[in-house]
Amino acid sequence: MVGIEEIPVKELISSAIEARKKAYVPYSGYMVGAAVLTNELRIYTGCNIENASYTPTICAERTAISKAVSEGRRRFLAIAVVGSPNGDVITQYAYPCGVCRQVMREFADPEQFVVIVARSEEDYKLYRLKELLPESFGPENLNV
Ligand code: THU
Repeated sequence: MVGIEEIPVKELISSAIEARKKAYVPYSGYMVGAAVLTNELRIYTGCNIENASYTPTICAERTAISKAVSEGRRRFLAIAVVGSPNGDVITQYAYPCGVCRQVMREFADPEQFVVIVARSEEDYKLYRLKELLPESFGPENLNV
């Protein structure tokens, strides 16, 4: 079990801030960046990518997780998320949407997985996934 003090919180936040700069958001103008930490302590980043047909839009968190899973990573310890309307200044805490919380649930222990919602490396909030997605449905329900 990895303690919260072993999570490289500032590195995850700075990686998410960097990833946010790549957000493709011609429709909402809302830029999000995410950085996910694997069990092997590797970091994968992602940004949100919108689409003219709206529905294919993917959130930053799922971009990061999809990149990691497609590289063979399947267990995650933490994710940092930063989001705010267009511009360099991150004015708000951007909480992961319900779909992204469920995708985190697929590849993490909800009691352990740490969600970092940040405005800067110094200004952030920490949660366990279980707090953000209580009484959840997951792979165990299907006995896989
Ligand atoms: N968005 C994310 O990237 N992550 C979330 O958890 C919530 C929403 C993106 C999707 C869309 O590009 C924009 O924010 C506005 O909804």
